[in-house]
Amino acid sequence: MTTKQEKIIVDFTKFNHWLNARKITSKFINNKQKTLSRKLRSKKNFKVNSKELNFINSNLSIPTEKIILQKKIPDYILWNKSKIDKTKRPIKRDGIHFYNYYSLPIPKGFVGPVILDILCPKNRLPKLNNGHLEQAITINLGGSDIFGRWGKIKNKINFSKIKFNNSSLNPWVIGDTYVEPTYCPHSYSRATDYNSQILSYTAKSPLEKFVKNLNNWSNSNYQNLMKNIKVKDLRASILKLYLDNKGVDLKYLSKSINIKIKNLDQIMKNKKILIKTCKFLKINSNMFNENEYSSEDKIGKTYLSYKDSFKTIRKFKSYTIASMASSERYSDLFGYFIKVSGTKKIKDLCDYASSHYLVTNGSFNFNIDNKSIKIKKGDAIWMSSFKLHGFSGKGSLTKISNGENLDTSDLNEILNIYKPIETLNRSYKDRISWGYE
Ligand SMILES: [Fe+2]
Repeated sequence: MTTKQEKIIVDFTKFNHWLNARKITSKFINNKQKTLSRKLRSKKNFKVNSKELNFINSNLSIPTEKIILQKKIPDYILWNKSKIDKTKRPIKRDGIHFYNYYSLPIPKGFVGPVILDILCPKNRLPKLNNGHLEQAITINLGGSDIFGRWGKIKNKINFSKIKFNNSSLNPWVIGDTYVEPTYCPHSYSRATDYNSQILSYTAKSPLEKFVKNLNNWSNSNYQNLMKNIKVKDLRASILKLYLDNKGVDLKYLSKSINIKIKNLDQIMKNKKILIKTCKFLKINSNMFNENEYSSEDKIGKTYLSYKDSFKTIRKFKSYTIASMASSERYSDLFGYFIKVSGTKKIKDLCDYASSHYLVTNGSFNFNIDNKSIKIKKGDAIWMSSFKLHGFSGKGSLTKISNGENLDTSDLNEILNIYKPIETLNRSYKDRISWGYE
């Protein structure tokens, strides 16, 4: 343990942020822990010994994982097909060799897409899994149609073909795509005698941070949460949480907004009263809008056949692209098919979201920094947010994204925060102390 602790490097920026947030002065540290204080004065990342770490953990109550120096997120990671092939792991299920899994490149700590060989034969109902918290996007990469299963009873909704585009029309739009919701059981089998692969991206859940916290709650507190959130009237019960937490009962609310409020229903059913109530509570009334998820089916999945993808074919920068399935519920989970045909070695892509590329056909150029790297069918790239890059030559790719590097809730915060540009300028690698000795 101690030898491991000797190697711990503290990220000065993270540590400084904690001192600022917790109002801990350097004088206080100097009085209690001289050697740590000396290291802090350098304003650089520093190694800690077990004594100093113990002081940080116990006296300052800052857990190691909050201040430890993490590896820089790379600009991009390129893996060729043979490297991806080496990640192959066979899965046995229901007594048969069911899938082979392959991983695509990702930075440490990120969730990544996987490629699956679908091996369950066509005449056999594929055994369901239990589903997972993460929503996912799935693409049939071919070379054949497969069956998808999403429920115990076999019917039109729970069991259907996921098609591969084996026509000669727009072959770069590889196949059907669909987005599956949280905890949706799913399984796949072949629909022909031939092999087919899928690309499946189990993307980070927007609820993950909350679920992690929730798991540290006691059971009785969890039970109370569930008692307070009513499925039948989710919006009203969440508004009630705000009213209660802010110490506002209906009598006081009535007086404050000058409308006699008898019950929550009255607020929820009248847009004007709801807006007035939210204004009074200083919360954004948009959060109570009734959203319509028109694209999803009865089990919550959103499907886009390759033929419907054709209808979305458009020019985008130097490429021709077509959409994949996407859902209003997960604004950061999306993808598109790309046809590369430009001859100029161009860098014209630079996205807010980090993305995963998979080369689906051809051999062409991946242009990044001052390089032009040859990539071919089966190679894959992880690309960071806001990294300029592009493709040229002749071929095709799939691109899928989620919000792991920067997501919609981050963008919402940027929209909401006071002086956003100044804040982002100051907070990037901030080494300034909060200003008191
Ligand atoms: Fe899955």
